[in-house]
Amino acid sequence: TDATATATAFGEEQEALVLSAWNAMKGDAASLALKFFLRIFEIAPGAKQMFPFLRDAGDAPLENHPKLKTHAVAVFVMACESATQLRNTGDVKVREAALKRLGVTHVKVGVADAHFEVVKTALLDTIRDAVPDMWTPEMKAAWEEAYDQLAAAIKEEMKNAA
Ligand code: HEM
Repeated sequence: TDATATATAFGEEQEALVLSAWNAMKGDAASLALKFFLRIFEIAPGAKQMFPFLRDAGDAPLENHPKLKTHAVAVFVMACESATQLRNTGDVKVREAALKRLGVTHVKVGVADAHFEVVKTALLDTIRDAVPDMWTPEMKAAWEEAYDQLAAAIKEEMKNAA
């Protein structure tokens, strides 16, 4: 499915696919967050340098970082919110103050477009592995659309912050 076709098809069913996966996963958020991070760094080892709490940690095991869960869960939860907004309004509007801060933060740590693709792939892989029985092309498309629209909103704000 191309992006346009998916976007026009975003409705209750797509929102339900995103939320049902998250409901099945959220009880296990800590180990899910770890897997998500490991997948990001497997695809793009250099991305580790962006996270201050990892950069300063030497070779300490990733699972010992208390901050590790925060970013992973933020991406999951905001993608869910994005799905709800897409279903309601066909557009993603993160709260303006929150979005501004996200723009500033991600510019400051040096996030580029390619990193959003890495995080997207890692997100989809993590969900696929976490809920293999639920995973379908339709579910994948719904998460992709929710993520793409959210990433687009953040990238737009990054332009303003740069
Ligand atoms: C910080 C969300 C994509 C790297 C944050 C924060 C949130 C967030 C909520 C907390 C700070 C704040 O509120 O300003 C998201 C979402 C993303 C996304 C929803 C995608 C849709 C990325 C990507 C990268 C990245 C692609 C790079 C691989 C970081 C880093 C921080 C951060 C390094 C600062 C962490 C720290 O200092 O503790 N992000 N992010 N993010 N994000 Fe993201």
